[in-house]
Amino acid sequence: MLLSTILAVEASDSGGGNPKVTNFMVEACKNASKKNQYYDPDPMTQEFCVSTLKLDNRSVEAKDLHGLVLVAIEILKGQVAVANGNVKQMLHNTKNGTVAMFNLSFCVVDYDRTVSILNICDTMINEYHGGTGGANDGSRSSALLACLRKLDEPLIDIWLRLPDNSDAEKLPNDYDAVGKLVKLNFCLASTI
Ligand SMILES: *[C@@H]1O[C@H](CO)[C@@H](O)[C@H](O)[C@H]1NC(C)=O
Ligand SMILES: *[C@@H]1O[C@H](CO)[C@@H](O)[C@H](O)[C@H]1NC(C)=O
Ligand SMILES: *[C@@H]1O[C@H](CO)[C@@H](O)[C@H](O)[C@H]1NC(C)=O
Ligand SMILES: *[C@@H]1O[C@H](CO)[C@@H](O)[C@H](O)[C@H]1NC(C)=O
Repeated sequence: MLLSTILAVEASDSGGGNPKVTNFMVEACKNASKKNQYYDPDPMTQEFCVSTLKLDNRSVEAKDLHGLVLVAIEILKGQVAVANGNVKQMLHNTKNGTVAMFNLSFCVVDYDRTVSILNICDTMINEYHGGTGGANDGSRSSALLACLRKLDEPLIDIWLRLPDNSDAEKLPNDYDAVGKLVKLNFCLASTI
């Protein structure tokens, strides 16, 4: 896409210092929303995509889809940090040596794994922006998608170990928020 076609438009709630939405973001999100799995009962919507990207003002400056995915990864990392912080808080109040403590400890390890994986995906995007572009470079769409797909394993492990008692209500909500952002990243990266 030509840079000249990317026009900044005011967000509907615009006012001094409010977040902006560009045509590029809207179009990328529209395309991304068509990349859901056809059987997904809770598909990623264009509206969710736009309102999420709007949370980080760097998305306005993204020059290409790789740049937008980079921002989406940053937002996801932020949500993982929140989720992991709440797990650690819960762990702090859990008796040492119990199964619950053991399960929460593994959730911390697995959330940390998701961040390590996302750092590798970031490197692929930076490589793309470095412009080497050879057939063997990691910035190709298939490599980026394969990187994001690596998130499945730690996320499934977390899901199996999250406590389901009501005092831990926050943890499943955090987990859902992380899951929605993973889906957003995946759909967006699928449009590259
Ligand atoms: C969205 O998809 C259309 C049709 O495939 C394509 O022409 C356009 O460049 C895409 N826009 C973005 C921002 O990727
Ligand atoms: C983005 O927001 C941060 C604070 O949240 C601000 O420091 C920075 O200047 C903003 N950047 C742009 C390009 O608006
Ligand atoms: C839990 O108990 C082990 C020894 O069984 C000890 O090494 C560890 O520091 C304890 N952890 C906490 C958080 O108290
Ligand atoms: C611990 O995790 C296992 C699955 O790995 C699960 O079956 C079990 O119910 C969990 N126990 C607690 C107390 O969270």
